[in-house]
Amino acid sequence: MFGTVNCAILGTGKIAEKMAETMKSARKVKCYAVGSRNLDRAVEFAKKNGFKRAYGSYEDLLADRKVDLVYVATPHSEHFANAMAALEAGKNVLVEKPICINEKQAKKLIATADAKHLFLGEAMWTRFLPFANRIREVLSSGVIGDPVSLTADVGWNIRAVPRMTDPELAGGTLLDTGIYALNFASMFFGEDIYKINSVCSYTDRRLDEQDSITLIYRDGRVATLSASMVGCGPRQGVFTGTKGYAVVDDIVNFKSLAVYDANGKRLAIYRRPRQKNGYEYELAAAVRAIREGRTEFDLMPHRQSLSEMHMMDFIRGQMGVVYPAEVRERQEEQRRQEEEDRQAALALEQKAKEALAAKEEEEERGQIASDIQAQEAIEGHVSIGDETDYTFGTAEAAADIAGEEVHLPSEDTLVHAAGEALKEDARLKQEAAKAPAPDPGDVTSYINLSLPQDHPAADDGEKK
Ligand SMILES: NC(=O)c1ccc[n+]([C@@H]2O[C@H](COP(=O)([O-])OP(=O)(O)OC[C@H]3O[C@@H](n4cnc5c(N)ncnc54)[C@H](OP(=O)(O)O)[C@@H]3O)[C@@H](O)[C@H]2O)c1
Repeated sequence: MFGTVNCAILGTGKIAEKMAETMKSARKVKCYAVGSRNLDRAVEFAKKNGFKRAYGSYEDLLADRKVDLVYVATPHSEHFANAMAALEAGKNVLVEKPICINEKQAKKLIATADAKHLFLGEAMWTRFLPFANRIREVLSSGVIGDPVSLTADVGWNIRAVPRMTDPELAGGTLLDTGIYALNFASMFFGEDIYKINSVCSYTDRRLDEQDSITLIYRDGRVATLSASMVGCGPRQGVFTGTKGYAVVDDIVNFKSLAVYDANGKRLAIYRRPRQKNGYEYELAAAVRAIREGRTEFDLMPHRQSLSEMHMMDFIRGQMGVVYPAEVRERQEEQRRQEEEDRQAALALEQKAKEALAAKEEEEERGQIASDIQAQEAIEGHVSIGDETDYTFGTAEAAADIAGEEVHLPSEDTLVHAAGEALKEDARLKQEAAKAPAPDPGDVTSYINLSLPQDHPAADDGEKK
């Protein structure tokens, strides 16, 4: 794709305003359209930010053929549906962090973007800040020795923001602020994690309010992270090395890096270069990717988004935080499974009935023949051989000869018994499917997506 990218924004909230400001001054970008659930809001937003078109529904915006890139600036719970709708409409998508609420959704989005050869990027803007390279340079210079651990905290008092406290909007700390701490650790310590321990305090609607997360890396490094939606922290990242330490101010939008020796003497301080608001780098990277026909960012590739969602799913498992949409999805899946099992049981029962009916017919034919034979035996004193070789009818005839009474199950009973056995089998399968998921409290070890099965960590007694 060449020329200017026509950008559109879904949603008119806080971050939408920031991105509109960013788009206004970006190169190769046109502030083209905004979509809101409310037309007045869209019109007002468009006027204020110089957007050409305003739509009173997201669907209408997505139907505009001139839109090249849709920036999804809605609450977490909406990211999947909004991004999917945009992809289905043939648009490139930049979706706010987190890309969606869980790994399963992320996989579907990525598969759709790949299939349609459209750009899909998660707006984890910190990844695109040029100052990240300075931090990497300092860490690899050896000035603080080997970095053996890091701490990072992130927090704002945003409990009054409705989307933060509403489970329906996938609120809570992890997906909003905790994600920055995880991102910081992953940017500088990578992904080779084999153990995660997380705990949290809860809001009154059982969302995570303050999180404490420890990551243990395969090489022994440790990251200790904390995140809050009720407290304003310094948003500092501290790297501890074998010869000194380095302090990053602020892990969300890097401002500076101070380097200290083992005695706490400051050796250097680096400050970030001038920037607009920090979002310009991710926007430029998205535009570049689209113009180059790529489906993902280089600095925040799909693999990274998946790994992040995988980790956050695991952490929520430890914390016992589940969003209502996930509960509904599980119930729906269970209902579908039960219906499938019921249909399968009915089909099997029908098959058994047909098989027994066929057998009955065959036996009836056999019985007539053997009755005749038995009658002949009685009348003509013909030998009838070994009774055990006889079919039901012949056995009855033989029993008659022997003067014994034989009780054979009726065909109805057999059909019924077979049907009941099949139903019971289906019931047991359903029971097994319904078995409760493992108690999240028992989840103590993390299974890294990239960790090979034969990795030494796989021998860890706690590994699941
Ligand atoms: N990168 C960053 O620095 C940064 C900073 C803040 C937030 N974020 C991320 O950006 C996203 C939005 O955050 P925000 O602070 O901008 O949120 P916000 O101020 O609440 O705005 C969200 C917007 O989404 C739209 N929306 C669609 N469905 C909605 C629903 N069911 N309930 C409420 N609003 C709905 C609304 O616009 P209409 O009514 O006009 O449709 C609303 O204005 C989140 O994913 C957040 O994590 C990123």
